[in-house]
Amino acid sequence: MSTGNPVSRKQPKVDLDATRERLTKLGLLHASDHVNQVLAEAVKESWPPHRFLDRLLEDELTVREERRLKTSLRLSGLPTGQTLGNFDFGFQPSVERSRIETLGTCAWIREKENLLIQGPPGVGKTHLAVGLAIRAIENAFSVAFHRLEDLLAALKRDAEISPQRLRRRKHMNVALLVIDEVGFESMTRQEASLFFRLVSYRYGRGAIAITTNKGIAEWPEMLAGDEVLATAILDRLLHRSHVLNISGRSYRLRELEAAAKSTNPS
Ligand SMILES: Nc1ncnc2c1ncn2[C@@H]1O[C@H](COP(=O)(O)OP(=O)(O)OP(=O)(O)O)[C@@H](O)[C@H]1O
Ligand SMILES: [Mg+2]
Repeated sequence: MSTGNPVSRKQPKVDLDATRERLTKLGLLHASDHVNQVLAEAVKESWPPHRFLDRLLEDELTVREERRLKTSLRLSGLPTGQTLGNFDFGFQPSVERSRIETLGTCAWIREKENLLIQGPPGVGKTHLAVGLAIRAIENAFSVAFHRLEDLLAALKRDAEISPQRLRRRKHMNVALLVIDEVGFESMTRQEASLFFRLVSYRYGRGAIAITTNKGIAEWPEMLAGDEVLATAILDRLLHRSHVLNISGRSYRLRELEAAAKSTNPS
């Protein structure tokens, strides 16, 4: 007897077009496009029904995850080509692989801790920060990457907006904010105080990774010579933080060094 319920089962329709339409309605677009193919394989290989269903769903999830990764990477502003996988640990012995692998688990991001990567030019500070940020995206954390100069320009544009609007800015609320090239130039007093506002807002709310060529002792000078502000910023940044000090040769200059050696072997 019919219940009048629109979902009550009638004779099952063995019509692939209808199945595809249902998958589309459910938003399973990859499955909808590939159900024919997977079904043909299932028949050919005599898969049990649940294997067919599982494979259809697994493919849908894989495609979605790939799409999510691609979109998140694009929106993050991260440069391409620098991953933990292509970092040559042999070249930079001051970087402990095990430490980077531990950071690569993203536990520090989950705990809203900070990371400071210090060292001279070309030693791989940006490369490591970017590699760790990619790892964060793979682990489903939201990420924004900014060179300090661009971030300060954005902070200045936002100097007068309401706190509510400010909080919606990506650099305020992503799980990981990467600030690259801190210390290349000194900040003005206004920039230093906007930087303080950012660090102070994110403190305990989200992780920050900073790459810098300046040692801690040089921060007051970099922050408009304001000792009080520098202490307040460092206090928040360094509380629950990880510091990587990279000392070594510039990777950018390695080819020059090698060329110089081959022309002048002594
Ligand atoms: N150990 C490494 N293995 C592979 N590539 C590296 C390594 N170190 C640096 N590189 C590459 O060398 C170039 C310079 O590295 P990177 O930009 O990370 O240096 P940096 O420490 O940030 O320098 P700067 O202070 O000038 O910004 C990049 O192309 C980076 O991918
Ligand atoms: Mg750099």
